Formats: sequence, C-alpha cells, structure tokens
Amino acid sequence: MSEANLDRSAGRIRPRRLRSTPAMRRLVAQTRLHPAELIWPLFVREGADGPRPVTSMPGVEQHSLDSLVTAAREAVSAGVGGLMLFGVPQQRDATGTGADDPDGILNVALATVREAVGDDTLVMADLCLDEFTDHGHCGVLTTGPRGETVVDNDATLERYAAMALAQADAGAHVLGLSGMMDGQVGVVRDALDAHGRSDVVVLAYAAKYASGYYGPFRDAVESTLQGDRSTYQQDPANAAESLREVRLDMEQGADMVMVKPALPYLDILAKVADVAAQAGVPTAAYQVSGEYAQIEAAAERGWIDRDRVVLESLTAIRRAGAGSVLTYYALEVARRLNG
Ligand code: PBG
Repeated sequence: MSEANLDRSAGRIRPRRLRSTPAMRRLVAQTRLHPAELIWPLFVREGADGPRPVTSMPGVEQHSLDSLVTAAREAVSAGVGGLMLFGVPQQRDATGTGADDPDGILNVALATVREAVGDDTLVMADLCLDEFTDHGHCGVLTTGPRGETVVDNDATLERYAAMALAQADAGAHVLGLSGMMDGQVGVVRDALDAHGRSDVVVLAYAAKYASGYYGPFRDAVESTLQGDRSTYQQDPANAAESLREVRLDMEQGADMVMVKPALPYLDILAKVADVAAQAGVPTAAYQVSGEYAQIEAAAERGWIDRDRVVLESLTAIRRAGAGSVLTYYALEVARRLNG
C-alpha cells in the first residue's frame, strides 16, 4: 500500500502503534496481575492421611493437615496474598456443631496453618454452615408457615456468631461470610467486637449468586445438599439487588466485599467495585470451581490454550474491578508471575 493509500484508509490516528511490540504493550497495560492479590482456596479433610484428588477439579486436592501445611508454605514462598480454608468434616448434624467446635476440622486447620505461616500470608476462613450440616444448607432449618422446610435466618445468625468466635480464636485473620443470610455481617461484627476481636477482618460475600458454577465445589466438600440455595443466594437474573446487598453489608461494617462467581458476572463486579470504591471498600471476586473446571476440561481436550486462558480470565476479573481474586490457580499463577 502506498503512503497516500494508508492516509486515505486510516488517517493519522493509528491505535495499532501502541500494540506494536511487547515492550510497548507492557508500557500501556492498564491491568497487571500480582501474587499479593491472589487468594488460594484450600480444602482440608478430617482424618485424611494424605492429599486426595478432587475428580471434577483436576489439580485440586482435599488436603490432610500435613499436606495443607506444605501447600501453605509453598504459597508463602510464592508471595500468595491469602489462603481461604474450607473444612470437610467426617460427621455432620442438623445445626453444624463441627463449625464452632475448636476441635472441628476447619478450626484445627486454621490453627495449624496460622501456626505455620504466622503473619507471612493471610489466613482466611469460609464462614458458612453448609459443610457442617447433614442437610447441606448454609443455615439451620425450621418449618415455615405452610409446613415447608425453610432456612431459619435469625437462628442461623446465632450459629454464625459462634462460628466467627471459634475461627477468630483459631487464628483466622479474615472471615469470609458466604452464607447470604440477612444481617450476617452486623451480627458477626458485633460478636467479634464484644469479645475484644475488633482486629479480625470481615470479608462479605456480598453479591453471591445461586449458581450452577459451584458444582465441582460440592464434590470437593462432599456436599449432601438436596435441592438448591435459591431462597438465600441471589437470582442470576438480577443485577440491582447486588448493589443493595453491598450497601447493606458496608453499613453493617464489612471491611471488604466480594462478587461470586466472577467471569460470568463481570457486569455485576464492575458495578459493585464502583459502589464499594466510593465508600473506600475493596472488592474481591471469586473465580469459582465451575469456572476452573470449564478451563481444565476444554484444555484437556486441546480446545483452548490453558495457560493463556488462565491468565486472560484473571486479567479480565481484575480489569472489571476486583482488587483481589480468589482462584484455585493462585499458587500456579503466582509462580508464573515470579518467573
Ligand atoms: C459456601 C461456599 C460455596 C462456595 C464457596 N463457599 C458453596 C455454595 O455456596 O454452594 C463455592 C465455591 C466454588 O464453587 O468454588 N460454603
């Protein structure tokens, strides 16, 4: 093409100039991933004598206490920002008593990991009853006005308050409130403060959707849930109620808010991050088990370039407004970023 032709077809404004070399693209990149903003979800199984693979999440394991400590130390070496622990208990009951028992698997794991890592990374606890109840719901059940079984919001809050104190005692720096009960942030904040634990951070899963993307997670924690969580988690059809949830959680004292799942909900994430930023509150996002499984399954068939899609998905989540990301890829990506 002649100069004249070039001028006629594109003119003097040429956005491609800023994409011309890797050095140029690095200079103008608006989103950069860093290990410190990655949070690694980890599963620990009561009574396990070694790690066991989670079939629907290739590369993810249910840890024993020993292998959990090894993983935690690897995360510290790679500069991973935090560890989010989930317990897989052997006994479950109607009210989830294992959740606030200091000898319950999650509390033992929190104490063990905190002892191993100190303050070198953040130790976080999933604060929810679903792994500990025999019915698999995130709260305790009662009978509704028409004889139906319902999750009892306010009775569940009492369980969450007890769980929060147990997790704080075990050494968690951050409590991840994922149950989607009304008023949970305020009740947990008050319980912590009344017990002299104003130091413990509350991360509210503020906008958490009732999502099919949690399927593989249910395998990972051996969930017993029959039915679904649609009476407490949000309807995927709705956007506005996310902002309502976020505002309520911030009013109740949430230190950070989260959107979950992440990639299918980037529109929500962008709005939530805006609203939270106006209040000076950081926003996190959770790249959930189904998002992980999708990438792994397509990659296994050779249909996508796995390593590229892993970084692209996390970059998209950060670009949409998440300051930090919970991802099962945290250790791997932190190592890749470290070079
Ligand atoms: C509740 C909880 C769930 C997830 C994180 N915390 C399950 C649910 O709400 O059904 C899902 C995370 C994932 O899918 O990776 N304990």
